[in-house]
Amino acid sequence: MVVLGFESSCDETGVALVCTERGLLAHALHTQAAMHQAYGGVVPELASRDHIRRIIPLTRRVLEQAGLGLQEIDAIAYTAGPGLAGALLVGAGTAQALAWSLDKPAIAIHHLEGHLLSPRLAEPAPQFPFIALLVSGGHTQLMRVNGVGNYELLGETLDDAAGEAFDKTAKLLGLGYPGGPQLAALAATGSAKRFDLPRPLINRAGFDFSFSGLKTAVLHQVQKAAGAVDGDAQLLDQQTRADLAAATQAAIVDVLVAKSMATLAHTGLQRLVVAGGVGANQLLRQRLQQLCAKAQAEVYFPPVALCTDNGAMIAYAAAERIKAGLIDWQALGTQPFTVRPRWPLAQIDEPLLVSD
Ligand code: KG4
Ligand code: ZN
Repeated sequence: MVVLGFESSCDETGVALVCTERGLLAHALHTQAAMHQAYGGVVPELASRDHIRRIIPLTRRVLEQAGLGLQEIDAIAYTAGPGLAGALLVGAGTAQALAWSLDKPAIAIHHLEGHLLSPRLAEPAPQFPFIALLVSGGHTQLMRVNGVGNYELLGETLDDAAGEAFDKTAKLLGLGYPGGPQLAALAATGSAKRFDLPRPLINRAGFDFSFSGLKTAVLHQVQKAAGAVDGDAQLLDQQTRADLAAATQAAIVDVLVAKSMATLAHTGLQRLVVAGGVGANQLLRQRLQQLCAKAQAEVYFPPVALCTDNGAMIAYAAAERIKAGLIDWQALGTQPFTVRPRWPLAQIDEPLLVSD
């Protein structure tokens, strides 16, 4: 079976074709990062409008790449949530309209399920069960992945996501958006030892995270070093900014690493999969590689293209659900046209309701 998948929950329009037998056939992505850059973050209304502009051309592109026609698609999957309501509606609307016109089923997919399964599209594919550390601009979660459709949330952020912490502190240091890669580059020229920043919840039992206090701590350090109440980072010398970047990166990475290793120890599992944009961070990679080797555990860093938001993960999650017999084909024809901007993973099997 061939599944067409749409991802439009935030600032990436992703479209892909996945075959239940042959795997990924084609995928195409448009990222809106440059468009949102001027605002220092994602502007929901602009995101929705841009998804509308991109989704059909990207669909044409993947069909061309795969050498397939619309008639050869067996099902159309879309991200139904969680995410920005208007942005989700573009993917949902396009998927439902196409499905209706082709007389094929539309499949609502939970965005996090896409993230949890897509590392298995890479070589080597992690076998079930594994721990997933999902770290992006929108998510910071530790999850036990037992199999398709069987996920257990072990810990998550109580406030800001790890990527958000990188982005917000980068902004405080006068860097552009997205801040993670820029902050990491600046940190490479600094020392993490000069400034002492908090490691929130690091010694607390459990696997939750909290990053919002970190940006306040960085702001205080900027204010102190710049000698100005508004904390203008431009007043700082280059070395001070680099040292602050290094201290920030070290604090975030320390917490992510400590909680990931604690989760492995707690569950007795020996496979850790790191997904999401923050997984590109070199310090995080080095530290996890060292500690996992010591603990005789395997750590997987799937290619960034597979673990940041993309259409392949949505088409693949639908294909895996079909293969696992988790999709009720009879019920699909009667699905309401709706999205679920807030959709706890624990409710993944609850049907979508129009009131959502
Ligand atoms: O998964 P992702 O591409 O997309 C969404 O969250 O939608 O993650 C983006 C996040 C941003 O917050 C970005 O700053 C962060 O990942 N990021 C990094 C690095 N590369 C991307 N954070 C730290 N170090 C990096 N090298
Ligand atoms: Zn995501």
